Amino acid sequence: MSERRTVGVGLVGLGTIGTGVAKVIQQNAAVIEQRLGVPLRLVRIADLDLETDRGVDLSGIRFDSDTPGLISDPEVDIVIELVGGYDFARDLILKAIDAGKHVVTANKALLALHGKQIFDAALKRGVDVAFEASVGGGIPILRSLREGFAANRILSLHGIMNGTTNYVLTEMEKTGELFDVVLKRAQDLGYAEADPTFDVDGIDAAHKLTLLAAMAYGAAITFEEIPTEGIRALTPFDFEAADEFGYRIKLLGIAKGHGRDAERIEARVHPTLVSKGSLLANVDGAMNAVAVTGDAVGRTLSYGAGAGEMPTASAVVGDLIELAREVLRESSGRVAPLSYLPEELVPKPIVPLDELYGRAYLRFTMLDRPGVFGHIASVLGENEIGIESVIQKGRGGSFDSVPVLMQTYPSKESALRSALEIIDGLEDVTAPTVHIRVEEDL
Ligand code: HSE
Repeated sequence: MSERRTVGVGLVGLGTIGTGVAKVIQQNAAVIEQRLGVPLRLVRIADLDLETDRGVDLSGIRFDSDTPGLISDPEVDIVIELVGGYDFARDLILKAIDAGKHVVTANKALLALHGKQIFDAALKRGVDVAFEASVGGGIPILRSLREGFAANRILSLHGIMNGTTNYVLTEMEKTGELFDVVLKRAQDLGYAEADPTFDVDGIDAAHKLTLLAAMAYGAAITFEEIPTEGIRALTPFDFEAADEFGYRIKLLGIAKGHGRDAERIEARVHPTLVSKGSLLANVDGAMNAVAVTGDAVGRTLSYGAGAGEMPTASAVVGDLIELAREVLRESSGRVAPLSYLPEELVPKPIVPLDELYGRAYLRFTMLDRPGVFGHIASVLGENEIGIESVIQKGRGGSFDSVPVLMQTYPSKESALRSALEIIDGLEDVTAPTVHIRVEEDL
């Protein structure tokens, strides 16, 4: 162990999370030193905006726009990338690695797309890249998968992994407000990505699932392969009907292994009906939770704030402390970043959605006149889709379109899709049918 008196940190990106990182390092300096053995010192910060008052004391910290200078500064042992996005972030991470610095990032989008390049470069240079804050905000779910669950074959993973959408779903259900109104509130609270379509279209959750699937199954899947659906199409009718059928609606990232060695995997992100009694159904607001079932450990649930300044900063600074230990020991590579050794990460086929089997919730929009429902019911019957329950909302005094809300018995998704293709082509069906899968395995 070296005789160093401090470990130096350089932070690139003083936005919401970066500000939280500066606060945590300052507020918890004493307890961090008690755990690390030396002080963790924020040596310098780089950002383009040098004017805005972030409400954090930056005295004693060099603060300018000089990212190359920060990376090459001999007092900086660990570089934190919190700028987000792809090109600039990737370039700065690769330069930091090249300069022999350990790196902490929260950039799940970058890692989901370019993780291999970054992890390979770090391995070659003998430094580590830590990214706990990229999934589950403050919940240490990556460390759990890499180390705590390392003895297990993972049977399934179900995660509420996007705080913005979980906040929007919870508020829409509670208040009956419109999607756009609630989304704006989530953005104001600092939960959303710079581009909120990443949140509401399920892309952010799919980025995170790419990383989790690699860690759970050694599956080198690409983000683009993950079937992904967002929450834009949901209306108050869906929340009311879900409630009557005994469910709540959550945007889940789901991964499951098929076969003894998970030769194929399920990996998908979509709004899901989960039984009201399940733990995940009761994860509200911007909270995240990841349920992992392992063959030895059984069912587990990790729960905590999935977004926001201080919870995410907690994960970033946790990574800093872990890497600072590596700096002190002059070591690296204690645990493979994606849990599996790089040569054990292999491409695995993703089970097509058509092969899924389960209940479904359907919202039909149809003209309110005699015979239309009978027509739909017979198309479903011809495709062997059984109807478990139906709610029809009353008409407003005309033959206008009305929603008909249905729960099916378990069926093969390929059959359901064939039926919906026919139904959506019917003259009296006035909008595409909304289909939400039910997940019983929770
Ligand atoms: N936009 C993300 C979310 C931030 O809402 O969960 C945390 O990754």
